[in-house]
Formats: sequence, C-alpha cells, structure tokens
Amino acid sequence: MARDIPHIPGHVAVIMDGNGRWARSRGFPRLEGHRRGAARAREVVEWAADAGVRCISLFAFSTENWARPPREVRGLMSLLATMLPREVPAMNENGVRLRVLGAVEALPERARRVLDEALEATRGNERIDLVLCLNYGGRQEILAGVRNACREAMRADDPDAVLAALDAVNFRQWLWCADLPEVDLLIRTGGERRISNFYLWDAAYAELFFSDRYWPDFSREDFLAALDDYARRERRFGRTSEQVRKAR
Ligand code: FPP
Repeated sequence: MARDIPHIPGHVAVIMDGNGRWARSRGFPRLEGHRRGAARAREVVEWAADAGVRCISLFAFSTENWARPPREVRGLMSLLATMLPREVPAMNENGVRLRVLGAVEALPERARRVLDEALEATRGNERIDLVLCLNYGGRQEILAGVRNACREAMRADDPDAVLAALDAVNFRQWLWCADLPEVDLLIRTGGERRISNFYLWDAAYAELFFSDRYWPDFSREDFLAALDDYARRERRFGRTSEQVRKAR
C-alpha cells in the first residue's frame, strides 16, 4: 500500500556506494561487501514498491568499473549471473519487471544470457520496474544519443533542419533511457557527494539525497527518510516558488 506522504517519486535512482568500505571495516573481502550489497538491493526494491515508487534504477556496474582489479570485476559478474536467476521467482511474485540500461552487449556472455532470460521471464510484471544499470555511463549515454540524432539527421532530406529542431526536451528520445520515466530522486550512499557519471541527463533536475551509510547498512528507515525528504522538496524546474504555488 502506498504511504500517506504527498509526493512519491515515480523514479528513484540509486548509487549503491560503500560496499568495499563496509567489508573492510569488518575484515571481510570486498566481494562479501558486494554480496551484502546485492541482498540489500533486493530489499530496497521491495521497500520502493511498497511505497508506491513505479521505477527504481540501481547503478550495479559503471563503465568505469572495468578498471577495478580483474578479480573484483569477475566477482561482480559472477554475482550477477548466480543471483539473478534465483531472484526471478520472487520478482514474478512481487510484480517486478526487470529492465537494463547500459552497453550490456559488452558484458560476459553468461551475464548477458541470464539478463535476457530474466528480462523475458519478468516482462509481464507491472508493479515496479527494476532498472539494472550495467556497463552504464552517463557521458557514454549522451554520446550515443548524439550519434543516434546525427544518424537520423543524415537520413533526412534536410539534415540541418532535423538538428536545429533538437531541443533540451526532445533530445531525450535518443538516449538509452528514452522509454524510462525521468529520474525524480537520486540517492547516493557511502558518504560521497558526487553523481559519478550516473543519469547525467536526468540529473539536471533530479532531487539529490546523500546518505553517509555504507550501502549494505542502508536500512528501510534510511530509504523512507529519503522519500520523506523528497516529499518536502519544492521542484521548481527553473520557475519561482510563487509560480510553482500558483500552478498547484
Ligand atoms: C560501489 O561500492 C558499488 C559497486 C561498484 C557495485 C554495486 C554492486 C552491488 C550492490 C551488487 C549487485 C551488482 C551486481 C553486478 C550483481 P564500492 O565498491 O565502490 O565501495 P567503496 O567505495 O566502499 O570501495
């Protein structure tokens, strides 16, 4: 049941930072932090769905994460490949539709296969969309969007007119995220106050929420605090506070 707060963000995007530090602080290998992080991710999707959020994006592997030690990269890919198939029955029970965002064609073959299977198995679910961002980078997404728009222009009789018609609203159709709702709330755990190449286009007007908690420790109360904080924000999109109040 949706909680009784005035503004529920339709799309929440999360930078799940702090797995490594969580593990180190307990004397565990980094991969154990990622395992705990993955378990926490599963719970957060449930909390989001219970709160009435319709779409949640999780930054599981960035374009830049390939630079991590090969062992850690292999560990993350193997975590994805073992965990995802096990999650599918629960996703179907809870109405979770999987989606992916990023250059997934560059992932290892096994990861691509489990992703394809989970996408297919959950495609009819309607309660919440879970967007796994894998091999995702916001700059890379914008570059891909520019290429898509240029390709379209090159095919047209008047390429200049097509490019001139591009604006800050309609350009989004060329991005990987084109068929996702715009991000309303971007949460980052782990104490850093950075966007780190996540949803750069949508971050222009997303509300930002930073938590000092390491991701595996991010609790239901922390998540609900982020939603409550969002509900208190005034989203002006460049207008004045008075204009916003009058438009209500
Ligand atoms: C950032 O913490 C986290 C990641 C780079 C990976 C997040 C992945 C999961 C939560 C597991 C689910 C994902 C897959 C692919 C199955 P960090 O390692 O940068 O933490 P640190 O800043 O404390 O070192």
